[in-house]
Amino acid sequence: MATISDFLQILKVQHPIFQAPLAGGGDTPELVAAVSNAGGLGFIGAAYLSPEQMVEVARVVKSKTTRPFGINLFAPSTPNPASISPDIAMQRIAPYFAELGIPAPSLPSGPSFTFSHQLAAALETGASAFSFTFGLLPSEAMQSLKQKGIFVLGTATTVNEAVELETAGVDAVVAQGSEAGGHRGTFRGDFSASMIGTISLVPQVVDAVRIPVIASGGIMDGRGIAAALALGASAVQLGTAFLTCKESGIPEVYREAILSAREDRTRLTRAFSGRPARGIVNRFMTEVESGGNQEAILPFPLQNALTRPLRTAAAKSGRAEFLSLWAGQGVRMARRQSAAELMARLVKETEAAIHGLQGIHSHESTPSKSGAATD
Ligand SMILES: Cc1cc2nc3c(=O)[nH]c(=O)nc-3n(C[C@H](O)[C@H](O)[C@H](O)COP(=O)(O)O)c2cc1C
Repeated sequence: MATISDFLQILKVQHPIFQAPLAGGGDTPELVAAVSNAGGLGFIGAAYLSPEQMVEVARVVKSKTTRPFGINLFAPSTPNPASISPDIAMQRIAPYFAELGIPAPSLPSGPSFTFSHQLAAALETGASAFSFTFGLLPSEAMQSLKQKGIFVLGTATTVNEAVELETAGVDAVVAQGSEAGGHRGTFRGDFSASMIGTISLVPQVVDAVRIPVIASGGIMDGRGIAAALALGASAVQLGTAFLTCKESGIPEVYREAILSAREDRTRLTRAFSGRPARGIVNRFMTEVESGGNQEAILPFPLQNALTRPLRTAAAKSGRAEFLSLWAGQGVRMARRQSAAELMARLVKETEAAIHGLQGIHSHESTPSKSGAATD
């Protein structure tokens, strides 16, 4: 497998640090450009954007940086005809709509654009990397990305998923550990069985594939980056750490929730979107799922569309109890700072952590004063 510097040369970036795509408003063009300008790789999380919005966001990114950046979509899925009645799901959340004074929930309609429309836009954005989550790409999509010379990354939460992605032709795989904030990328088997921590997942994926592996989930500082690189990762992808940067687009109450959260305050929920995602525990999550009432939750993306008006209104009125507060288990390490400050800090801390490990080695090779056996 290529070295980290070979990998960085292919991507034309200076540091092995990616800003995770943060669909839903976290990754503003300012954030993406600031990360790329600081020598990392910024990603536009475009899953919820129309093709026109994708082109516009990329235009703004390019007006702020000449460095490479990436773009990300959700892999297309064939929606299961909902076996659950939308009426139950709508009734379950109606009281919250009333509490916020917005019209009662109505049956969600799908987006007016398809994955292939979004992909066609992605190809025109000038992004040099394309990543995806939630599955595999149709082979024509893979071909058109490759024809454009775009570097393609898929997301895996198990070794089997990583191997499947490699076989499908991706250039690198993002290994998403269970600590990660936001949606689980799991696309084979059981969500709960695929909750593998980053420190277990990364080396097992590295051993199983020949392509570069990007470690993601719970990495917040240089110690985490050095650890991931020591496990064989070629780069890291940080989400939560970038969410509290000044350029991120999340509402202030969300930022404050992350900055005051503890490592035991996040958990997985389907309540907001219908797909398991890790976020800070709040009233909506707890009440909608109370008594294990999964009946009242529609499958993704229907539940996501159903709860959107509530989340939009909650963001406007600063009501964190109705927001999807996606965040990873590393929340205590989140800081309020600019993306350039965070990048500079990460680079410095990673060097210090690697240097510290070398220190351990030289200390061990020094003969002990007493010469006594310690075992
Ligand atoms: C608010 C938020 C939105 C996210 N949106 C996406 C997305 O659109 N596409 C994607 O591949 N991953 C997305 N992720 C997951 C990240 O790629 C990554 O796996 C995760 O942030 C890593 O864990 P960390 O938050 O502990 O750093 C999102 C994560 C968060 C916190």
